[in-house]
Amino acid sequence: MSAPFLKIENLHVSIEGKEILKDFSIEINGGEIHAIMGPNGTGKSTLASAIMGHPKYEITSGSVTMNGEDVLEMEVDERAQAGLFLAMQYPSEISGITNADFLRSAINAGREEGDEISLMKFIRKLDEKMDLLEMDQQFAQRYLNEGFSGGEKKRNEILQLMMLEPKLAILDEIDSGLDIDALKVVSKGVNAMRGSEFGCLIITHYQRLLDYIKPDKVHVMMQGRIVKSGGSELAERLEAEGYDWIKEELGIEDERVNQEA
Ligand SMILES: Nc1ncnc2c1ncn2[C@@H]1O[C@H](COP(=O)(O)OP(=O)(O)OP(=O)(O)O)[C@@H](O)[C@H]1O
Ligand SMILES: [Mg+2]
Repeated sequence: MSAPFLKIENLHVSIEGKEILKDFSIEINGGEIHAIMGPNGTGKSTLASAIMGHPKYEITSGSVTMNGEDVLEMEVDERAQAGLFLAMQYPSEISGITNADFLRSAINAGREEGDEISLMKFIRKLDEKMDLLEMDQQFAQRYLNEGFSGGEKKRNEILQLMMLEPKLAILDEIDSGLDIDALKVVSKGVNAMRGSEFGCLIITHYQRLLDYIKPDKVHVMMQGRIVKSGGSELAERLEAEGYDWIKEELGIEDERVNQEA
């Protein structure tokens, strides 16, 4: 048995002394796509940032491993090199560096010196992925996310995903602000990544995305941890009934993490 692609055990994370993640655990194996749903302010984006090593997020206890390797010991760039990828809820705009330059540097950062991707191969791959994502060629030469519409940014995150081919991707609300056609295109991109060498954690508010990207497991997050797990039927029930039934079941009054008692 090989170690899970991603294993998080009893993770506690604080921001400025406030505990946001409280005993969060999950295990994702190669080939699996998991979805995390949950009300606003329950710690979903915090989880993503903490795994990627955002300096503001202090891990007070618990462990994160990828294929048995300690992720928390790695520098941020080492995490990316180890095959971790995060599509952010709010991607940043970077002026002065083109999308194509950014992608090429990012690919080469994950390779040994002397083994850089050739310009020809890079361009061929970029063309192919942009075609699949139905992106206009001009986006390759535009500054990274600068002036991109909300939906264009999300599509661009998936372009990065397809170009970098990470082992484990965390996609934070890649569906927010997408029109129906874009939602299908983005889903097509994620589905094209599926395979035994790829694991994925999708954070979303909407079951609709999961109609297009079938998750192997669905988890509900409240108060900084997973409070319920199931299959895609769980997402369907949440869409129909909201979260109150779970709160009732668990005797939770407030699902958020940041409320003073
Ligand atoms: N950098 C930060 N500084 C202060 N508080 C923060 C910071 N990041 C997150 N928090 C707080 O932690 C809590 C969880 O935030 P988080 O962004 O993880 O929620 P979320 O589950 O992703 O919500 P949403 O569904 O609205 O995206 C919130 O109360 C938020 O205000
Ligand atoms: Mg969020």
